[in-house]
Amino acid sequence: MAAAPPEPTAAPLHVAIVMDGNGRWAKRRGLPRTLGHRAGVEALKRTVAAAPALGIKWLTVFGFSTENWSRPAAEVAELMALPKRYFDSDLTRLEREGVRVRCWGRREGLSPELVKMLDEAEARTAHNDTFFLQIAFNYGGQADIVDAARAFAAEVAAGRARPEDLDEAMFARHLSSRDAPPTDLIIRPSGEQRLSNFLLWEAAYAEFVFQDVLWPDFSVDHLKAALEEFSRRDRRYGGTPADGVLAAG
Ligand code: FPP
Repeated sequence: MAAAPPEPTAAPLHVAIVMDGNGRWAKRRGLPRTLGHRAGVEALKRTVAAAPALGIKWLTVFGFSTENWSRPAAEVAELMALPKRYFDSDLTRLEREGVRVRCWGRREGLSPELVKMLDEAEARTAHNDTFFLQIAFNYGGQADIVDAARAFAAEVAAGRARPEDLDEAMFARHLSSRDAPPTDLIIRPSGEQRLSNFLLWEAAYAEFVFQDVLWPDFSVDHLKAALEEFSRRDRRYGGTPADGVLAAG
């Protein structure tokens, strides 16, 4: 009897995206990079709108990294203006549709107006639970780990914890991702194949899909293609493969 085809891997609950390629998208059109970033916001809107129907419950996107401060001041200013652009047009709808918004990353370094806006987006949607959108902004995976280590060290210094209490689970409870389920899938468009300091801890057993599309051109079909590729992956978490044949890795 022929072996049954392998069961497809269940749809990913938590998808993360490195929204890369805005600058190249603009350059190819002879446009300023700022317009590439604005087009990137439109791609984010399309993706958030499509994700729930595809079985995704948590979506985490990389909006601004702790390394992006090194860009020219005018570009940094445009990147800082993107949350306002997004929330001005979409926050009311996100709130109404049951989306809970969280903004991961350091608030230090951001303008007071921007901090207020991020906090407000979180507060206005705090009661929602149909879909979870995390915007990593002024976020770095290493910075997030350092902040978690500092928070735990402060608990030890205050006598509320002992160093030997720390294990992976307790450490994870100090990260921005503490309330999120494990990241199942990380998508990076634009042809680059690296993590760029995104979700370093959370990527431990995530699957990666790299796509040759610039983020402003990212469509529902690209998202579906990434999920399709994910469904063919054999997730082993360091254990044996589903068919019992042990391959390397
Ligand atoms: C990287 O592309 C992208 C960014 C640094 C910004 C990504 C942000 C958005 C798409 C919108 C964010 C929306 C909110 C609400 C914060 P790049 O500029 O490095 O592209 P390149 O590699 O082609 O130059």
